[in-house]
Amino acid sequence: MPVNKVVLGVTGSIAAYKAAEVCSLLRKAGVEVRVAMTACGARFVTPLTFETLTQHPVYADVFGQPKSYEMDHIAWAKWADVFAVAPATANILAKMAHGLADDPVSTFYLSFDGPTIVAPAMNTRMLEHPATEANLNLLRSRGVAVVAPAEGLLACGDVGRGKLADPAAIVAAVLGAQSQGAGQPVASPPAASVASAATVTTLRPPDKSLAGRTVLITSGPTHEYLDPVRFLTNPSSGRMGAALTMEAQRRGAKVHLVSGPVSPQMLPTGEGVTVHRVTTAEQMLRAVRDLAPTVDVFVFAAAVSDFRVATPPTHKIKRTGNSLTLPLIENPDIAQAIGCIKERGQITVGFAAETEDLERNALAKLERKRLDLIVANNVSNPRIGFDRDVNEVTIYRRDGSRRHISERPKSDVAFEVFEAVLGLLGPLQPASPATA
Ligand code: C5P
Repeated sequence: MPVNKVVLGVTGSIAAYKAAEVCSLLRKAGVEVRVAMTACGARFVTPLTFETLTQHPVYADVFGQPKSYEMDHIAWAKWADVFAVAPATANILAKMAHGLADDPVSTFYLSFDGPTIVAPAMNTRMLEHPATEANLNLLRSRGVAVVAPAEGLLACGDVGRGKLADPAAIVAAVLGAQSQGAGQPVASPPAASVASAATVTTLRPPDKSLAGRTVLITSGPTHEYLDPVRFLTNPSSGRMGAALTMEAQRRGAKVHLVSGPVSPQMLPTGEGVTVHRVTTAEQMLRAVRDLAPTVDVFVFAAAVSDFRVATPPTHKIKRTGNSLTLPLIENPDIAQAIGCIKERGQITVGFAAETEDLERNALAKLERKRLDLIVANNVSNPRIGFDRDVNEVTIYRRDGSRRHISERPKSDVAFEVFEAVLGLLGPLQPASPATA
């Protein structure tokens, strides 16, 4: 559905002046805009600026005289397709996260049940404060989409994360809000669906950073049959693989998703994505090997079962009153197999889910599997990892450098994984005439 009517919330950050450009770009895109402002926002830019741009009174005072019998926040909530707060201060994020309603922007948020977007802008320390991070996560889990702030020189003179995203990116997020599912609440505990994963995605406009590249992602668990009706497996949901697939797709890559058995919602589709469904580790290895010659970047996110029954019986195993011994043999290690045969320029990324000695185990795997990057997380923390929407990881590179990503949605972890990959990729080879 096209977005025709937007309520823009403007709060008290120096970036409030950029809200005028957001407003102007929306108007140029044919969108009707109404502006709600906090008192601090109105000190940075006067309501008159927005009244002139929108040709409509600004809602800047909760005790102001409503323009009709209905309260502004209620009438506007029935009217708007999308609500976007840009810039969003730490204060408004805290109010929205906790349901306070003492200014026009927070009051509108509570009155509106449609797609909602926030574009934070603040000093890096405020943005990275655990309270702000927790408030953003709470809003994300409720379906609010976050347009990631940019890195750069901030108004206070510091350099870091916290600059308001580019107005064009905010407008792109607003215009795409309904199709991206922003504002649809995520079930709690999080539902296993890509639709819900998408709603907690930090909205980033498509870019071409992986255009011309082919990315292969392994995802989900494997099932190793003990007999025709029973199998060995693990709790992997395929959520990380889905987030990686969507991120590679957003960056313009051609993506092969080789997935073990997961819910169909964990199999993103769309332009450039091909899904290859497999069941066992051996099938996964075969699919990856077949595709390998065309692949530039392999990301091994699957939780592959390390063992299988050598020769599973063809009939269901029956009780005999005695204990049962099933000899297990090792499965192939897909990441290692590809690491051994990869050609110059091909990048391999592995994941290490550990319960102890995270760094030592991760670095040993980096070496043993000849990976270029390893993404390590501590799965003994029940808040992150398997079947959760968030993860906390450290990305290790072969040169000894590392980057820690504090608890964030898996979509943001996927973003950071590909940021690290970009630093390793060689120049794009011109397509041969046969493949052009
Ligand atoms: O299971 P392990 O901790 O060794 O997994 C580390 C990495 O190796 C992961 O990226 C996983 O996808 C990959 N792996 C694999 N084939 C296996 C086991 C693990 O590709 N049989």
